[in-house]
Amino acid sequence: MLAIIGGSGMTQLSCLKISHRRVIRTPYGEPSGPFTFGTVNGHDIVFLARHGHGHTIPPHRINYRANIWALRSLSPEHIVAVAAVGGIREDLTPGTLIIPGQVIDYTYGRDFTYFDSSEDPVTHIDFTDPYSSVTRMQLFRAARLADEAVMDSGVYAAVQGPRLETAAEINRLERDGCDMVGMTGMPEAALARELGLNYATLAVVANYAAGRGTNVAAIPLKEIYVVLEKAMVRVRNIIEHLAKCYDDKTNT
Ligand code: HPA
Repeated sequence: MLAIIGGSGMTQLSCLKISHRRVIRTPYGEPSGPFTFGTVNGHDIVFLARHGHGHTIPPHRINYRANIWALRSLSPEHIVAVAAVGGIREDLTPGTLIIPGQVIDYTYGRDFTYFDSSEDPVTHIDFTDPYSSVTRMQLFRAARLADEAVMDSGVYAAVQGPRLETAAEINRLERDGCDMVGMTGMPEAALARELGLNYATLAVVANYAAGRGTNVAAIPLKEIYVVLEKAMVRVRNIIEHLAKCYDDKTNT
């Protein structure tokens, strides 16, 4: 089974032929909502809306631990996390799709680990490459088959939100080597790694980051959703092809 976490602009997966919905309880509390099960072109998919079905959970209040724990209980082969970002690098214009290769975590105050007990031995994870190379390869392959342009690599800056950044903060992120900025990439990626899950992000550039491109004075918030709506058609096309190629057992 393939798991999709939908972000802003994707509270449901319209290409999914739904079979049922299920509430999954976890020791970490409630996930963002019920999990939607179904098929895309005959292939099993489970979908979770990260911000809840009605897009009501802000990035800093998402129960990332519950979401990833619940997904693990379903043993998905891959988790694809769709996430809206602001483009910092000049070529990351609104509407661009990109599969980041690295992440820098600027978030705070979130429950960011499962290894939090003073009774268990201290546990570290390797996070040199934060995303699964297999899942990323599958995504690139699906994008090629779907004839959708997707950019490779790039550093994702995970920020706290829910406000957008100042122009100076974006300059600082750029100096740090960040190419794009979003609010949900962490601790989601690290939690998936802690549980040994194949996880990668498909980022959708929703806007130029603060102070960049045409957003020198301000970010036009209404336009973000117009861009996302259009881009999600292409994301769905990739997911449809991903379902196909992941089911091709020679390529899993
Ligand atoms: N900043 C942070 N998160 C975002 C942005 C942004 O500009 N656009 C979409 N998510």
